[in-house]
Amino acid sequence: MSSRSQKSLIDLKTRSASQILDLFSLAKNISKAAIAPKFSGQTAALVFFEASTRTRLSFETACARLGLHPLILSGKAGTSLEKGETAEDTLLNVAAMKPSVLIVRSDDSLDQEKISSQLDMPFLNAGWGKRGHPTQALLDAYTIWNRRGGCIEGEKVLIIGDVVHSRVAASHFELAKILNYEVALCGPKEFLPASGGAKVFTDLKEALKWCTCAMALRVQNERHISLSTEKLPSENYSLHFGLNRENIAGLGKDILILHPGPVNHGIEIDEVAYHDSRSVILEQVTNGVLIRQALIQSALTEGVL
Ligand code: CP
Repeated sequence: MSSRSQKSLIDLKTRSASQILDLFSLAKNISKAAIAPKFSGQTAALVFFEASTRTRLSFETACARLGLHPLILSGKAGTSLEKGETAEDTLLNVAAMKPSVLIVRSDDSLDQEKISSQLDMPFLNAGWGKRGHPTQALLDAYTIWNRRGGCIEGEKVLIIGDVVHSRVAASHFELAKILNYEVALCGPKEFLPASGGAKVFTDLKEALKWCTCAMALRVQNERHISLSTEKLPSENYSLHFGLNRENIAGLGKDILILHPGPVNHGIEIDEVAYHDSRSVILEQVTNGVLIRQALIQSALTEGVL
């Protein structure tokens, strides 16, 4: 059995600041000048056991720009998962077709660490249950870094809402330690981790005064099976924890409003805040292609990660 490629990305814990800043520089260079397709004739397998729009299509776009042919498995329909084949077997069989890189989204039940250790090609985590979404955290941080002229150290990032179910928040906890930005949380107590050491605000207005970047998270109704529905009234949620016309009005012109998407409009963010000039929500999506292109290129060459 071969050991997992060092070019794999399951989480961010073992990465250094210089590796990540080099990745950001590579993404920035890619944004300035198109990179000639380098990997013609090779394939990238995108195996998405859970739904996705941004992550899957941005990885596909990145593959297309690099000349890699994307092989896509998206959900169960039409695959042997419908016949009862396991996710593990699915990945081993896809890997046996020798793609140059394997890009995987799964729920928590798949052990991405274990399966990637059985494979000899780079394995990129494209969202793993509640455990982590490293490429999302990287593209969020890149968006802040780029907007601040190549610096993120010292930024105060407020993560609002459904932190306990959020793989994006989990990856930001890792990345913030590496890149030295501060993370604070605000949300109903059912949505916040019981412990963890991050600063917690109960009042959104106070929290917004503190932060330099406000990141709303999607309320993940599909992961709330353990909570009673009366704890999750959408109207109450938006009243206390939604970004809206009123609570962003007095904020400074330099604050950045982020959301990893998909958005529940009118719940965690209203239309005014979504389209505000300080919102970088669609810029995050554009930058997602750059970061994922830089990651794949690095994974397939002597790259930065
Ligand atoms: N942010 C994010 O992961 O979006 P998708 O689920 O659409 O990929």
